[in-house]
Amino acid sequence: MKTKFARESYTVNTEVVLPNDTNNIGNLFGGKLMQWMDITSAIAAQRHCNRVVVTASINSVSFDNPIKQNSVVTLEAKVSRAFNTSMEVVIDVHVEDAVTGAKTKCNEAIFTFVAIDQNGAPLPVPEMVPETEEEKKRFAGALRRRQLSLLLAGRIKADDASELKALFVKE
Ligand SMILES: CC(C)(COP(=O)(O)OP(=O)(O)OC[C@H]1O[C@@H](n2cnc3c(N)ncnc32)[C@H](O)[C@@H]1OP(=O)(O)O)[C@@H](O)C(=O)NCCC(=O)NCCS
Repeated sequence: MKTKFARESYTVNTEVVLPNDTNNIGNLFGGKLMQWMDITSAIAAQRHCNRVVVTASINSVSFDNPIKQNSVVTLEAKVSRAFNTSMEVVIDVHVEDAVTGAKTKCNEAIFTFVAIDQNGAPLPVPEMVPETEEEKKRFAGALRRRQLSLLLAGRIKADDASELKALFVKE
């Protein structure tokens, strides 16, 4: 299976906040943003493995700033690490000033996708090689985040979360 670089497993999506996307104080609904983030990051994961993918988990979602109606929203999703059948995707959301074009970061989230076959069974995915400093940092942190997600989902025991434990236990 061909190894891929992070820059190949990447996608950018631009949306405009229309009246139907807002709550009664004129800000973008969190659920609408989640939908955009899910679709955009699924495309990045799909580009990585060239398979159908499903969302296995959503972690570390932060809604840092409200996004006003008419805003131009840019969603940038990149696979940060591939495991056996799963891939972690980090998505950054920016709001663009219509006049200056300046971008302000508003949200971030971390998704895990699993590649599946026609029967819904997980399939192996290619390895992912990080290149930039930021990609390397996110690659390294992905193992810890995976352990946390699996621990919270009851899929592993605390004793098996070695990367997580290392954060708390001093030698
Ligand atoms: C995701 C899914 C395919 C996993 O199937 P499964 O039979 O549990 O398969 P496995 O136990 O082999 O897990 C497959 C991979 O998912 C990962 N995974 C499962 N749950 C996870 C979680 N909560 N967080 C992170 N990774 C998770 C496993 O670690 C494994 O990764 P790896 O192969 O890279 O080690 C299955 O649970 C599913 O189809 N879920 C519904 C997906 C869906 O419909 N999403 C849309 C939202 S409604």
